[in-house]
Amino acid sequence: MQQSNKNRPPLKIAVLGSGKGSNCQSIIDAIRAGTLNARIVCIISDVKNAFILERAQKHGIPAEYISAAPFKTKLEGKAEQNYLSELRKYGAEVIVLAGFMRIIKKGMLEAFAGRILNIHPALLPAFPGVESWKQALNYGTKIAGCTVHIVNEGTDTGPIIVQRAVPILENDTPETLHARIQVEEHKAYPEALKLLSEGRVSLDGRRVKINMD
Ligand code: GRF
Repeated sequence: MQQSNKNRPPLKIAVLGSGKGSNCQSIIDAIRAGTLNARIVCIISDVKNAFILERAQKHGIPAEYISAAPFKTKLEGKAEQNYLSELRKYGAEVIVLAGFMRIIKKGMLEAFAGRILNIHPALLPAFPGVESWKQALNYGTKIAGCTVHIVNEGTDTGPIIVQRAVPILENDTPETLHARIQVEEHKAYPEALKLLSEGRVSLDGRRVKINMD
């Protein structure tokens, strides 16, 4: 039987990010507003001076820089082990990738199977990879958006939990479009985490089922 939401302990989230961390901020805000029953147990970055670490400190959340060298675009080997031991130390239940610019490999995927989330600035499966808002604009689609998905071994290929659409306007530039997508990202990530924290998310093949009973 599903545990009543009132009695559920806060979901213990670890956030991994390489940049400014505006998505992380939206999660912090949702927790503070009481709309998301979760606790950010640590924020880890592979970039020493990333602004996301400053946000962590400002909010009294443990902040860690952990080098992911020698790799440039993935998290593997000794570095992956260092990340995993920190995540375990803080008792993380779910890993939230918020602008973490590295591919997650087998070791972490297996240790947190089905419990790693990512946000991507496009309506997947269209436009995986980098600068997807630019890809959508250059392709000429009329609708862009964002996707929160479970991370699997592919790049931006995991089961989709939440998507939000953003119309592309006649005079959009990559910057104006990305800014409007980010507004929706900041709703989508807390929404997906709320579903997870309430135990409403299950998998049927690659379809995510949301139980709203
Ligand atoms: C977001 O656009 C997200 O979709 C992508 O990286 C960006 C991170 O932005 N994965 P921020 O650091 O959360 O502001």
